[in-house]
Amino acid sequence: MKIEEKDVFEVLRQIVDPDLKKDIVSLGFVRNLKIEDKKISFEINLTTPACPLKAEFKRQAEVLIKEKFPEIEEVNVKITSQVKSAERQAGFLEVLPDVKNIVAVGSGKGGVGKSTVAVNLSSALAVLGARVGLLDADIYGPSVSMMLKSSTKPIIVGEKILPLKSNNIFYISMGFLIEEETPIIWRGPLVSKAIEQLLSEVEWPPLDYLIVDLPPGTGDAQLTICQRVPVTGAVIVSTPNDVALATAKRGLVMFQKMNVPILGIVENMSYFICPHCNEKTDIFESGLAEKEAENLKIPCLSKIPIEPKIAESGEKGVPIVNLHPSSETAKSFIKAAEALAQEISKLNIKEK
Ligand SMILES: Nc1ncnc2c1ncn2[C@@H]1O[C@H](COP(=O)(O)OP(=O)(O)O)[C@@H](O)[C@H]1O
Ligand SMILES: [Mg+2]
Repeated sequence: MKIEEKDVFEVLRQIVDPDLKKDIVSLGFVRNLKIEDKKISFEINLTTPACPLKAEFKRQAEVLIKEKFPEIEEVNVKITSQVKSAERQAGFLEVLPDVKNIVAVGSGKGGVGKSTVAVNLSSALAVLGARVGLLDADIYGPSVSMMLKSSTKPIIVGEKILPLKSNNIFYISMGFLIEEETPIIWRGPLVSKAIEQLLSEVEWPPLDYLIVDLPPGTGDAQLTICQRVPVTGAVIVSTPNDVALATAKRGLVMFQKMNVPILGIVENMSYFICPHCNEKTDIFESGLAEKEAENLKIPCLSKIPIEPKIAESGEKGVPIVNLHPSSETAKSFIKAAEALAQEISKLNIKEK
């Protein structure tokens, strides 16, 4: 009996995306189905290259098809991806048209590792195959240009600034626009003006994700960004201690008031793994941010250990994800990137 396309689709309907809570056929993921004599091939086109279920979908598809159609000798499943754009509200349409999703990384306090997380999250998304940009909008303490170490300054073409590229991340930093070692006292209107300049004058290539490293707290910079660009959602970085968490919660409320969805919390400096004996030690109250996320019904994207090699990473200007890809820390950042990409997919699918 000849196998029809609908028979194959029927089989593939058994594969359910646990996050999106729908089967991959209803989600429109299955494409380019070809049924030949003893061979079936198709694509599963996911909403992000960072999908942690890639291998599992492929395996399930192969097993199910072979089970249902024993006469088929070869099942050829290709995993592809196309990141969906966040829905844009009116008024935002003209800004950053080639950027599919804008993710603000914020924290209540400075020094909790916001920039470290922003840089490594960007790098992890790039490692997973996404096109990533990183905008360092922390006018008070821009550090991305140091963390990604650039010896050159960005080139200006006409009225536009071209971002630099390092470790597969396109990036631009407020650090390039202000003089080093000159402390600047920013007053409200100046903050907004500087941020606006940064947002409107950088010529980004087409991006799946633009990560924005915000200044800490809830001031003019955050407001300007949320008002001027269509932010898909925010990630909050916190260490697992009460003070950091209390201020992180204020940040959270600000984003919610601005109608910016919270994509999740990253618990940084969560625990320590001894490089000599591999024993795991909690420095602060490990899991505290995770618990708080649970109470607030937002996802904890990942717990990042205290990493002694962060200093080396900073000196070399290479993110930990690239410098020590097999380390626990790199893996925890990959996990954060996968979880973040999934949250964004959920949001964008829900809106459609
Ligand atoms: N997981 C970590 N392990 C070890 N050191 C870290 C970690 N995260 C951040 N740091 C260090 O803590 C300091 C503050 O981090 P940074 O990312 O600049 O914070 P923020 O942007 O919130 O001010 C930096 O010296 C950084 O290298
Ligand atoms: Mg910083």
